[in-house]
Amino acid sequence: MTLNIKIIPISKKLELKQFDCGINELNVYLSQYSIANDKKNIGKTFVAVGEEHNFPLGYYTVSMVQVYFHELTDDIKKSLPKYPIPSMRIGKLAVSKGVQGKRIGAYLLRDSFLRAIRISEDVALKFIVVDALNEKSKEFYIRYGFIPLKDNPLKLVISLDTIKMAFLSFHNL
Ligand SMILES: CC(C)(COP(=O)(O)OP(=O)(O)OC[C@H]1O[C@@H](n2cnc3c(N)ncnc32)[C@H](O)[C@@H]1OP(=O)(O)O)[C@@H](O)C(=O)NCCC(=O)NCCS
Repeated sequence: MTLNIKIIPISKKLELKQFDCGINELNVYLSQYSIANDKKNIGKTFVAVGEEHNFPLGYYTVSMVQVYFHELTDDIKKSLPKYPIPSMRIGKLAVSKGVQGKRIGAYLLRDSFLRAIRISEDVALKFIVVDALNEKSKEFYIRYGFIPLKDNPLKLVISLDTIKMAFLSFHNL
C-alpha cells in the first residue's frame, strides 16, 4: 500500500504545537521536548508529514535500552545468555486525531522496524521494546507481533528475527 506521506527527522520548521493525538503527554513531548532530546541524543524523533510538509501527522521517538534476562518470558529466553540484551526502544508513537485509522501508525511502526534492521547491521540489537500507555495502545502493538514481558504487561518486545521474517513473508507491514 502506498501512503502519500514521508517520514522525516524532527525539525523546528514543523508546526509541532498544532499536533493533537488526544493524549496530552504525547502532544507536549512533541512540542516541548522532542527537539531538545533529539539534539542531546537522548531520543531521536521521526515525523510523518503529508502534502502540507510542515504539519506533523504522526511521530515516533527511539533510543537504545537494555532488556534484562529475568524480564523475558520463557519462550523468548531460550538460547539467550543471562546478560542484559541490547535493544531499541520506541518511547513514543502517536498519530494526529484527525488522521487516525488511516494506517499512519502502521506506517510509522514499519519505518521504525526498517530503522532497527539498518542499525542492527552495525550495532547489536536483539529486540524492539515499547511501553504501551494503556491496554488500548497495547492491543495496537500486539497486533504487530509484540509480546508482553513477564512482570510488566504494558512493556512489550518483538525480536529483530521476527521482524525480518515478517518483512520477508508479508507485504502489508
Ligand atoms: C495507536 C495509534 C498510534 C494507532 O495509529 P493509527 O494510525 O490510528 O492506526 P492505523 O490506522 O495505522 O492502524 C493499523 C491497524 O492497527 C489497528 N489499530 C489501530 N489502533 C489500534 C488499537 N488501539 N488496538 C488494536 N488495533 C488497533 C487498526 O484497526 C488497523 O488494523 P487493520 O490493518 O486491520 O485495519 C493512534 O491511534 C494514536 O496515536 N493513539 C493515541 C496515542 C497512543 O495510544 N499511542 C500508542 C502508545 S505510545
